[in-house]
Amino acid sequence: MPEFSHTGNVKKEFVRKMFDDISPSYDFLNHFLSFGMDIYWRKKFIQKLNIKNDISILDVACGTGDVGFEILKRHSVSVTGIDLSPKMVELAQKKSLQKKMDNISFIEGDAENLPFESNSIDCLTISYGFRNISNYEKALEEFYRVLKPGGKLGILEFSKPTSKIIGFIFKIYFHHILPRIASFFSRSDAYRYLPESVDFFPSRHDICRKIIYSGFQRAELHDLTFGVSTIFLGYKDE
Ligand SMILES: C[S@@+](CC[C@H](N)C(=O)[O-])C[C@H]1O[C@@H](n2cnc3c(N)ncnc32)[C@H](O)[C@@H]1O
Repeated sequence: MPEFSHTGNVKKEFVRKMFDDISPSYDFLNHFLSFGMDIYWRKKFIQKLNIKNDISILDVACGTGDVGFEILKRHSVSVTGIDLSPKMVELAQKKSLQKKMDNISFIEGDAENLPFESNSIDCLTISYGFRNISNYEKALEEFYRVLKPGGKLGILEFSKPTSKIIGFIFKIYFHHILPRIASFFSRSDAYRYLPESVDFFPSRHDICRKIIYSGFQRAELHDLTFGVSTIFLGYKDE
């Protein structure tokens, strides 16, 4: 019996409030509980996107902005981050001021109803945010709508590990150790929601199918670290 709701408006409101509440410790816990792997996975994700200079990037579910900051270290592009949680957006804005980074801005908004014109974005990224969305199909249709012809979608998300041994270790860590450690620093149910949301997330092949059904002409997946995380790419034809 699941503890949390994994679809609909109940999920959306829960997710918004949860990320508002955990925002102060979000970055620290991410790096600490993943042993820094989150930084490595985001770097690999950005490499796979094969970003060209002078393009527009929309980072959906941007959280505290790390994907955008990492992209701007390497590429001369303009980045807009959008997130459901006002507190996460506030933190991202503070970080961009501290880092003195131009070409990046952050706004509050919903992945399922993006405040952008159709065919206006070159590349849309979403890192560890897709699983938290209430209606995957609606969001994917929005991603397809706002991307220009020739545009690219990149999703980075937790997956079920492809190795049985790693899967077993990951399950013990994710379900039993991580929530206990996190509860010392943050809202304890947030780190029970995390493993449950990964369990309820569709399989990697279902995600590829959803990408295609939403209009993209081609979808690819690339597993990282025994499939603990997966990069999904969607291509909108010229
Ligand atoms: C695990 S965090 C990921 C943040 C960041 N992308 C990263 O890589 O660290 C998930 C983020 O998704 C956001 N989110 C969840 N549902 C959303 C939605 N429907 N629209 C926009 N953002 C959403 C949450 O507010 C949260 O900041």
